Amino acid sequence: MATRINPSILAADFANFERELGRIRTADLVHVDIMDNHFVPNLTFGLAMVQRLQQVSPLPLDIHLMIDDPDRWAPDYAEAGAYSVTFHAEAVADPVALARKLRSMGARAGIALKPGTAVEPYLELLPEFDQVLVMTVEPGFGGQSFMASTMPKLEMLSAAVRRTGLDVWLQVDGGITEQTIVAAAEAGADTFVAGSSVFGAADPAEQIARLRATAHSHQHAHG
Ligand code: DX5
Ligand code: ZN
Repeated sequence: MATRINPSILAADFANFERELGRIRTADLVHVDIMDNHFVPNLTFGLAMVQRLQQVSPLPLDIHLMIDDPDRWAPDYAEAGAYSVTFHAEAVADPVALARKLRSMGARAGIALKPGTAVEPYLELLPEFDQVLVMTVEPGFGGQSFMASTMPKLEMLSAAVRRTGLDVWLQVDGGITEQTIVAAAEAGADTFVAGSSVFGAADPAEQIARLRATAHSHQHAHG
């Protein structure tokens, strides 16, 4: 089972993204939080920033769209060359059509669920997605506390992925630390977003290695 660590640049120095990317070279992907001040009460950056990050990043980009009307805007991020584009279930009008569009453009398609959003309606749609993001905090801000109440959703997803044999990555995002990553790994996550715990560490590369080792030792060896 894979173990991916995706640092979130929401916790990086906004005046020095290129330098900050250099501190996380040992990570798997770079998590980029796009917020529009409508879907969530916070504003970050948009397409122009992603186009530039795509040019300078040594790692593939994992785009997390916390925006209204992703049906309209998400394809632009695939067009920009993002490796993966994840939109929110609560914001999208036609998740299957959008996922197919993103895939046809060469990106991996992801769907994200807020903590209060049930997973059951999406289980039968799993073949349409490359990734499901289970939010472990309310989206909008970094530095919040991990919500263990979201773990049953991950367990359901993990069971469905095993049952179907699909290659769907299961991502957690929010409050991931060396402590909370244990529960997420045990519940079946394989892709771990971490903002403050990586960029707040004295040595981000060391912290990435610690998170990866801790997660790996708590993942179940299925199949
Ligand atoms: C929150 C964002 C997260 C955030 C995580 O809405 O989606 O990606 O950067 O930050 P930490 O790891 O600090 O909770
Ligand atoms: Zn995120």
